[in-house]
Parts: sequence; C-alpha cells; structure tokens
Amino acid sequence: MEKRTDWYEHPAYYEAIFGTDTVREVDFLEALSARHGTGGSLWLEPACGAGRLVAEAAKRGKKVVGYDISDAMLAHSRKRLTPAQRRRVKLSQSRMEEFFVPSLEGKVDVAHNLVSTFRYLDSEAAALAHLKGTRRLLKPDGLYVLGFHLTDYARTAPEHERWVGRVGEDAVVCNTHEGLPERRARRSPMRNRLRVTGPGKDWLIETTWNFRTYSGPQAQKLFRDAGLDVVAVYDFDYDLAAPVARGSLRLDRVFVLKPSKGSTRRRAATGARKKARAKKA
Ligand SMILES: C[S@@+](CC[C@H](N)C(=O)[O-])C[C@H]1O[C@@H](n2cnc3c(N)ncnc32)[C@H](O)[C@@H]1O
Repeated sequence: MEKRTDWYEHPAYYEAIFGTDTVREVDFLEALSARHGTGGSLWLEPACGAGRLVAEAAKRGKKVVGYDISDAMLAHSRKRLTPAQRRRVKLSQSRMEEFFVPSLEGKVDVAHNLVSTFRYLDSEAAALAHLKGTRRLLKPDGLYVLGFHLTDYARTAPEHERWVGRVGEDAVVCNTHEGLPERRARRSPMRNRLRVTGPGKDWLIETTWNFRTYSGPQAQKLFRDAGLDVVAVYDFDYDLAAPVARGSLRLDRVFVLKPSKGSTRRRAATGARKKARAKKA
C-alpha cells in the first residue's frame, strides 16, 4: 500500500465521493435564490474546489466567479469546463479570509459554500473577515448560502462516516472521523482516509486537520457581527418545503444569509460620501 497525504491533491478521488449531489445542490441554490433572493445570474463560490458546482452553474447559464487556495483543485476546475462555460467563469487563487474584488462589490446574486468548508477558517477573526468580505460583494437582496454542521459540545463519542465511489476502474472508500470537540479551543480534530484500489494501484490518502466548532448561538452571533441576517435555515436534505423546525436536534444546517438592512444603508452612505468627496476634489 502506498501512503499519500492531502486529498485536495487528488481532485478526481475527492469528487468521486463528494460530487454525487451536484445537480440537486444547484437545483436547491436556484430555488433558494428565486424564493429568498434576486433570482439573478451572477454567482460566487468561495473555496470552489475541483469545480463541480462551478461547471454545473455555468452549464445553466450563470456567470460564475470561483476561487480556492489549492492549485491542484483549480487546475481540475479549469480542465473540466467547455469553451462556452469558460467564457462565463472566472477562477482565481485566493483565500476565504482575503478574497475581495472591488469590481464585484454589491453585484453578486448568490454566493454559496455548502459542504462545511467554512469550518476551515480557524479563528473568529478569519471567519468574520470572510463573512464581511463576502457580504460586501452581495447585492442588497443577494444571498450567501452557507452549509455546515453545528457542534454538540456535550458529545462523548467520536463521529464516523463512510462512503464508497468509483473513478474508472478504481474503487474509492472514504472514511471520515470527527474527534471530540474542544469547547475552549473551538475546534474538532478531523481525519479523512481515502483508500483507492484498482489495477496496479493501492493507495491510502490520509488527511488530518482541525475544523472550527459552532454551537447555534455562536453561529448566530457571528452572522450578526458580520452584518448578515438569517432569512431561512434548511438541512442537508436540500428540501425547500422543509426548513429546519425550531428546536430541531439535527446539526447539519444550511443558513440562508442576506446583508442586514443596516449594513447596506451604511455601504450606500459611504459610497455617497466618497462620490461627494471626489466631486469636491
Ligand atoms: C470540501 S472542499 C469543497 C469544494 C467545493 N466547494 C465543493 O463543494 O465541491 C474544500 C475546498 O476548500 C479549499 N480551502 C480550504 N481552506 C481554504 C481557504 N482558507 N481559502 C480558500 N480555499 C480553502 C480547499 O482547497 C478545497 O478545495
């Protein structure tokens, strides 16, 4: 068995496991935008990975801006696009804590980040910088759709999930462990093992990292601090007819966030002041 590290250096195997819900996710995003947002066509995907959602959105005629920290994932994203899709897509290397493009300010209809990637941001400052930066890019009625698992700090046993997939002749078995949350440090230790077996191949790709933890109130406070209102909450079933009921014990959440009216009024006032100063000068 050959040992390797970092699943994001192996986008095809990563997507064999996590790419299976792509069409349903984009259906859900379109439906959310029609119900809660603008229904418009400029979409942004922070940490877009190997580009499965970028490609599906572009196929449906959206203009898509995507960015990711990983070169290998971005290269895979670019390769999968048809020439027509490429004309509608802009991809770049950037970090969630830093991404900001002035020409996109106030223009984005839907930003989305569905599969817990937000939890890579390992401090309150980093999470806040990301949310504020993304909020500034949204139209006043634009949405940031953010999916991640909340943490039950009282949990006493580690969690384990197992999936299987295929890439051509290779079989992929994926095991993810989330260890016990550390309440004070606000993190959970994570380990992912991808076992890939096929003709002449027996790989174990093991990745370890920490995910930041959020209780419901911790998430709500962060959104408030970032100037984002929660307009609806769903779960990973992506069912528009079944928003999360008050008091639900499920921890998988899809938060539908919108710039709070105060934050967009402040932005408009700053813009007007800047224009007035420019006129005077
Ligand atoms: C779980 S994948 C999700 C990819 C894609 N959004 C999807 O749904 O298929 C997480 C991605 O986050 C990227 N990533 C991790 N930390 C990041 C950061 N601080 N800024 C930007 N990208 C980051 C990784 O390179 C990886 O491609």
